[in-house]
Amino acid sequence: MKNFLFQGCKDTTEETYKTKKVSRVNNYLTKRPPPIFSYFCENLSMEAFIPYQKAIVAYLSANSSEKEPRNLYDPIEYILNLGGKRLRPSLVLATAELYGVHHEKALPAAAAIEVFHNFTLVHDDIMDEAALRRGEPTIHEKWDLNTGILSGDAMLIEAYRYFENYPPSLAFSLLKLFNKTALEVCEGQQFDVDFESRSDVTESEYLQMIQYKTAVLVGCALQMGALIGKASEEESNHLYQFGLLLGTAFQIQDDYLDAFGSPENFGKTVGGDIIENKKTLLYIKAFELANEEQKASLELAYQDQTAQKVEKVKNIFRDTGAEASVKQAVQSYTELALKELEKLSVSDKKKELLIQFANSLMVRNL
Ligand code: IPE
Ligand code: IPE
Ligand code: MG
Ligand code: MG
Ligand code: MG
Repeated sequence: MKNFLFQGCKDTTEETYKTKKVSRVNNYLTKRPPPIFSYFCENLSMEAFIPYQKAIVAYLSANSSEKEPRNLYDPIEYILNLGGKRLRPSLVLATAELYGVHHEKALPAAAAIEVFHNFTLVHDDIMDEAALRRGEPTIHEKWDLNTGILSGDAMLIEAYRYFENYPPSLAFSLLKLFNKTALEVCEGQQFDVDFESRSDVTESEYLQMIQYKTAVLVGCALQMGALIGKASEEESNHLYQFGLLLGTAFQIQDDYLDAFGSPENFGKTVGGDIIENKKTLLYIKAFELANEEQKASLELAYQDQTAQKVEKVKNIFRDTGAEASVKQAVQSYTELALKELEKLSVSDKKKELLIQFANSLMVRNL
């Protein structure tokens, strides 16, 4: 079955046409090309998320900076305009609505999460020496390293500024959660880099690393929606746990796609993790399942610096059964996440949106 949520396409609806028209007028006034932000649409199984994706894209477009120097702001516009699935901000909006608060109230927090996420990608691509993001050159490739560092820094600050839109007590709660999350993301990213030069990383160390670098932001998105929706503390904790487990499944799937995804869909260099000696679940499982001969081959293949490295390692991932085992892990963590939803007090009809969302992530190919 095709999963339409994750197929990129430019929008042709009247609504976006109007937005573009407004941008063109602005462009006439400011004499520079209009930002036309794209998003992922056409999702049959997740139709319910499309309005949220559209809303966040329109909000980001409306808030894009006209300021100088363009060498600081153009890369920011570039990365935000490259699309992306807009999963985390859509979760903020959807969760606020679970508790009867219109998604418009959650837009600043959703934008903060999406801009922060994109900031982490800009710096992550520098750290991972990645040349491609969403099928296009990364900022440090298209511009240079310093541009990636400084535009990334500015994005982090822009993310914080969105919280100025909330009344003080809500802003404080949102900021407290955001600060904790953002620091954990840094910790996760450092573990990820530290693990590159180790060969004895355990599964539990790996799980902690991906929880920090990826899953906490998914949990944070859900909990922000709960805070804006004024859900009880208990509800908000269940939503956070759901996000942690779903984010864990999400990163394991990302690791899987990094090796076994198709170059046309994935938008990043397939095999990039293998080239960078990342200690993904594929690597850890392969070691666990390998016989002595396969272990020696994997160690040797990971040291390989030739163009054959990726294929050699992928063959070992397949032969040891690591590939199948990792796919299974994605399913298991998704099922654990879904169990957390059972604890929520909202109606089954409302829960259905998050259930569909979790299931659709499992079949994504980008
Ligand atoms: C990429 O996240 C970074 C990871 C945590 C794996 P996404 O796959 O959500 O990236 P975009 O925003 O859709 O491009
Ligand atoms: C990135 O993990 C997590 C963060 C950006 C914090 P990855 O390095 O696996 O993400 P991709 O594959 O580059 O998107
Ligand atoms: Mg990366
Ligand atoms: Mg990385
Ligand atoms: Mg990855």
